[in-house]
Amino acid sequence: MIELKTPDEIALMRQAGRITAAALDAVRDAAAVGVRLDELDAVAAEVIASAEAEPLFLGYRPTPAFSPYPGVTCISVNDAVVHGIPGRYALEPGDLVSVDCGARYRGWSGDAAVSFLVGEHPDPEVTRRDRALIATTQAALDAGIAAAVPGARLGDVAHAIGQVGRSAGYGLMANHGGHGIGREMHEAPHVPNEGRPGRGVRLRPGLVLALEPMLIAGGTDAYDEDPDGWTLRTRDHSRAAHIEHTVAVTADGPEVLTLSPAPAVGRG
Ligand code: MF3
Ligand code: CO
Repeated sequence: MIELKTPDEIALMRQAGRITAAALDAVRDAAAVGVRLDELDAVAAEVIASAEAEPLFLGYRPTPAFSPYPGVTCISVNDAVVHGIPGRYALEPGDLVSVDCGARYRGWSGDAAVSFLVGEHPDPEVTRRDRALIATTQAALDAGIAAAVPGARLGDVAHAIGQVGRSAGYGLMANHGGHGIGREMHEAPHVPNEGRPGRGVRLRPGLVLALEPMLIAGGTDAYDEDPDGWTLRTRDHSRAAHIEHTVAVTADGPEVLTLSPAPAVGRG
């Protein structure tokens, strides 16, 4: 069942979203060559705790087959697409880093992810390709957000996201996509990252979706799970990017709830 949120509930989700965005800002600011992923996870934990919110991912268990998720963030480097566990790996020059984070504030959830480069890769061609991959992932998300208007259908959003990724020649992680979000991180409906316009449920004011394109540079959709039971890695070991926002469908159009509370000066 799809639950629509009231304007008061969306206001609380906006607060959860801003806390999530602030945590991601702090992680991005702290990310540098030599910094370990577990140190970045601690930065996010601190921002969430000081905002009197709770980490959404820590202890999360989609099914009993999973071990409880051990981090506040997922940090996925280079050929890791999503759900990388922030461990003792230290960032290297030119790493492509995707950070996913969620916070719960007064019972309501925010979920967002960013992708960025750290330091200078020794091969400028790698940097050029990574920048294009990140820019296209952002464009795919922007297209999905723009399609999330009342009266449109879920297939319009899915198509908008997938079309941007596919037409640039990238792969889309098979069987993965966005989701409804509210009191729970994962609610109905599932939002595929590829779809047919005019199909699927109709979008109404109060529907809140996490939209999250995951693009694979090598152009294939195949991925494998690491022995840690969480990290999903491209099968061809090409690099991947993942960018996510929590978005409310409102009568006035889409509203991004995971907007940064700070101006984005000097970031990018
Ligand atoms: N944005 C991710 C998702 O929707 C967050 C889940 S991470 C987990 O799948 F570790 F909590 F599973
Ligand atoms: Co999500």
